[in-house]
Amino acid sequence: MSLPGLLSFHYILMLSVLTGAADGYYTYRWTQCIYSSPDLSDMVFIEGFYFNKYPYVKFNSTVGKFVGFTEFGVKTAENFNKDQSLLQQMKAQVDVFCRPNAEITEAAVYNKTVQPKVKLSSVTPGDKTHPALVMCSVYDFYPEPIKVSWLQDGVVVTSDVTNTEELPNGDWLYQIHSELEYTPKAGQKISCVVEHASFSKPMIYDWDPPVPEFEFNIQLLFTIETAGLVLGILIAAAGFLYYKIRSAGL
Ligand SMILES: *[C@@H]1O[C@H](CO)[C@@H](O)[C@H](O)[C@H]1NC(C)=O
Repeated sequence: MSLPGLLSFHYILMLSVLTGAADGYYTYRWTQCIYSSPDLSDMVFIEGFYFNKYPYVKFNSTVGKFVGFTEFGVKTAENFNKDQSLLQQMKAQVDVFCRPNAEITEAAVYNKTVQPKVKLSSVTPGDKTHPALVMCSVYDFYPEPIKVSWLQDGVVVTSDVTNTEELPNGDWLYQIHSELEYTPKAGQKISCVVEHASFSKPMIYDWDPPVPEFEFNIQLLFTIETAGLVLGILIAAAGFLYYKIRSAGL
């Protein structure tokens, strides 16, 4: 799997000297390992020395020596650069510090995948005059790159598809939603296709549309009929009772 863009990890060492309640000086060292190649071949080690927020000396492993920025920084860099063993040690950080740590991070995080949970749902059922809208929701996957598409009777649908972006949950996992507008037809087969690094092949999820409206109406019709029948029996019974009472009283 290739890496998403530029990666770097940092180690920050901070020292602050307070001289009063409100002001203070703030000095820190910021160590970075920067790379974008999956085999870590382009690894660069950077170490910056900062006073308040300004860098005054920086070591860059590609340059191979310290570079100073202020008058004090230039002097410091000159002194540091005289020390051959320090320079060797700094240059070696690419191999002794950056690459081993990057390998651990890669193995622990970047090479991991989490399979999504896929759910198909009806947004609008549709009828003879209105198209139906179905949603394919893909939850909790990692990493971010994913492809969600639709098949209608085995053919890839290119129009009437609306996708959201890959949305971060905030817990390293992502979700994405895709909507397809279609005209319901008898016997048609609609499926949502999800392609992701966590799967060895594209996964196909078939859409099982909700029960069409007319069947629901038939049920409703039966209910009305039954209610009518019960009402009829009640009225008949009441009439019969009324008749009995009247004839008994006379
Ligand atoms: C390190 O030095 C190289 C060569 O000068 C340069 O291309 C690169 O941008 C530097 N990296 C940083 C983070 O300053």
